[in-house]
Amino acid sequence: MSETAKLELDGKVIDLPVITGSENEKAIDIRKLRAETGYITLDSGFGNTGSCKSGITFLNGEKGILRYRGYPIEQLAEGSRFMEVAYLLIHGNLPKENELNFFEEKLTSFATLPEGITNILDQFPADAHPMGVISSVISSLSAFYPEFLKSDLTEVDKDRAIAQLLAQTKIITAYFYRKSRGLAPHRSHPSLGFAKDFLNMMFFEEGKEVDDEVAKALDVLLILHADHEQNCSASTVRVIGSSHANIFATISGGIDALWGQLHGGANQAVLEMLEQIKQAGGDYKQFIEKAKDKNDSFKLMGFGHRVYKNFDPRAKIIKKACDTILDKLGVDDPLLDIAKGLEQEALNDEYFKERNLYPNVDFYSGIIYKALGIPTNMFTTMFVLGRLPGWLAQWKEMREDPDARIARPRQVYVGESTRNFVSLKDR
Ligand code: CMC
Repeated sequence: MSETAKLELDGKVIDLPVITGSENEKAIDIRKLRAETGYITLDSGFGNTGSCKSGITFLNGEKGILRYRGYPIEQLAEGSRFMEVAYLLIHGNLPKENELNFFEEKLTSFATLPEGITNILDQFPADAHPMGVISSVISSLSAFYPEFLKSDLTEVDKDRAIAQLLAQTKIITAYFYRKSRGLAPHRSHPSLGFAKDFLNMMFFEEGKEVDDEVAKALDVLLILHADHEQNCSASTVRVIGSSHANIFATISGGIDALWGQLHGGANQAVLEMLEQIKQAGGDYKQFIEKAKDKNDSFKLMGFGHRVYKNFDPRAKIIKKACDTILDKLGVDDPLLDIAKGLEQEALNDEYFKERNLYPNVDFYSGIIYKALGIPTNMFTTMFVLGRLPGWLAQWKEMREDPDARIARPRQVYVGESTRNFVSLKDR
């Protein structure tokens, strides 16, 4: 017999079906609650709300587990390439060699930006924040690829639109970086591989080549960021996509949601915080006290997570990669010592222990980006490049789900009751 939960309301008991996920995750299905009882549920920030069934990413925050399509993040970071992971997230299985080649060939067919897009990019002020630039330019792509605007894209067009966004977002990002520094844009060479091609477009200098180990380090970072189930930006993507808005509008909205410093913008905020601590003479204890002070809005950036109540498995890998890459590049960054000191201090502090606050993915990533030569205001755009396959996979899964409906939450109204209009002269 299938499991049910009993809910007593106004003296009446109703049965609600219990749904069990493939990792034994339990959910109470309340879809009929309002129709049968007139009640809704209230869950600010959606901390207890499952918005969909998904087969893409499994995450257990208590145990510190993260898997894409069943594969542990540690194994993917160790053994795969970002493009394999993108394929895995979008199509559900690791690609065979010919499937991966075909996937990458599709991306290669979008290795040049339409001229109208480069014209738009040329109009932005050099000091514009790259997240705003990328989000607007992704939205503008809708004007240049009208064939991808239909709400019922064919499989072929869906795959092409996905390839186009994967290929061109990195070109747009690197193009704006070079233009904003007065450098001539450098063309994409997809055969270099995603990470190396990106670094080459960003930092191209005649006679110099991007180091393979450095490109590999970036590739791992991209893998670690590739999906994280129903977080703020992925949920934004699903909400926008649920109205059957086009893929460009949908992804552009995801980028905007990521920009906030409680989400992907935290990587920029972490570096700015570490700089601030350095300027204050390296006294991180003072910042820990500020973060604990409820009358102070300051938070320890790169710490805490809605779902992880244990070490973020991505942060563990990044911390290790940080040591390796700084060593390889011969960078001795005092910010790394400050970050390590701050982490240790916080982990031993009762306030952080009681609340299970651990370093998250954004805590060490900025130090690596800085060592790679990426400017601080571009850190969150690096997160965009990593997260893009995840957003695309979430969008695709949602649009193919026969149960998907337009996202339309309810509310509990707490405003004025009916009152009569008073004309302007009598108010
Ligand atoms: N510094 C100080 N106190 C904190 C922090 C922090 N970074 N994070 C949470 N707390 C406290 C919070 O004040 C609350 O205390 P109390 O119980 O006394 O009211 C308690 O811990 C629980 O936190 P919460 O605000 O209920 O947690 P949340 O799930 O609503 O927010 C978060 C999660 C990630 C927004 C939050 O931890 C935060 O603002 N962290 C800093 C920003 C950050 O690093 N964001 C990146 C998240 S990971 C990558 C990503 O999502 O893109």
